[in-house]
Amino acid sequence: MAFPATRMRRLRATPALRGLVRETGLRADRLVAPLFVSETAIAREPVPTMPGVYRLPVAEVVAEARDLAGLGVGAVMLFGVAAQKDAEGSGAWDQEGGVQLAVRAIKQALPELVVITDVCLCEYTDHGHCGVIDTSEGSARIDNDATVELLARTAASHARAGADMVAPSDMMDGRVGAIRAGLDEEGFSEVPILAYAAKFASAFYGPFREAAASTPSFGDRRSYQMDPGNGREAVREALLDAAEGADMLMVKPALSYGDLIAAVKRECKLPIAAYNVSGEYAMIKAAAAGGYLDERAAVCEILTSLHRAGADIVISYHAKDAAQWLSQTE
Ligand code: PBG
Repeated sequence: MAFPATRMRRLRATPALRGLVRETGLRADRLVAPLFVSETAIAREPVPTMPGVYRLPVAEVVAEARDLAGLGVGAVMLFGVAAQKDAEGSGAWDQEGGVQLAVRAIKQALPELVVITDVCLCEYTDHGHCGVIDTSEGSARIDNDATVELLARTAASHARAGADMVAPSDMMDGRVGAIRAGLDEEGFSEVPILAYAAKFASAFYGPFREAAASTPSFGDRRSYQMDPGNGREAVREALLDAAEGADMLMVKPALSYGDLIAAVKRECKLPIAAYNVSGEYAMIKAAAAGGYLDERAAVCEILTSLHRAGADIVISYHAKDAAQWLSQTE
């Protein structure tokens, strides 16, 4: 029935009524905080393009994880900032690498906190690409199958350190299956895989690459990351990762990809993660610093809208702030 019998504003009249009928809410335990583990920093190093984000030595990673756990944040996700790089990215699977040491330290101090590790080579290769380079035909192509093997090795090193979940972000074909097989072979059949299933070649990763020193030294990532124009392909990627054994599926970036969060949620029955990436964080921080918008209101609106689109969990550099705001309103 239409107006005047139906009046949509009836249920908007008071805060209590609005709360009662709110379809989507924010919860700290559905947020994941990304952390940069530096192998060279001796103290917190601010990332200039991401105010409030730091490259952290291992001891500081543990301190930060403790704060986040205290605020009820659901998980941390670790990224390495490498001391040494080579053509293969061998630092990625160094059992004494920064990420591996940080995982062990966090699990020892905070056994309950879920620790997810990003699995990729770009932070460890001297050329900055997410895979090894095949130069045999004179053209610098990323060698898919050789890379997949190294990713499986990296994921296993994270599991050995005690990671609760591994998250491959490279976009090579077949890596989820290879990582699953590698983990199972070593007795880590209970370690889940969060696949960066639909990861786009995006302009919004700029600040991350500054933080992790992982900008490609030549070319770009468009031969492995997805074309922003492609939606059906995102669903295919998600279905393939699910078939290879992924336990959760990610769509990345988040803000301009709500349609794909919804589509992947509809087509695959796995839990869905959205990655609210570095450039999306930097935009809000810059606008807030300029006084152009209310940071708290904008961040809460963004995180809520990603959940509404279908994300079960949201990975965001705003996780700590959001958890703090949520604890104040309770
Ligand atoms: C590594 C990786 C990247 C991000 C997550 N994992 C960078 C890239 O693909 O260039 C981006 C995260 C962000 O921008 O916040 N492959």
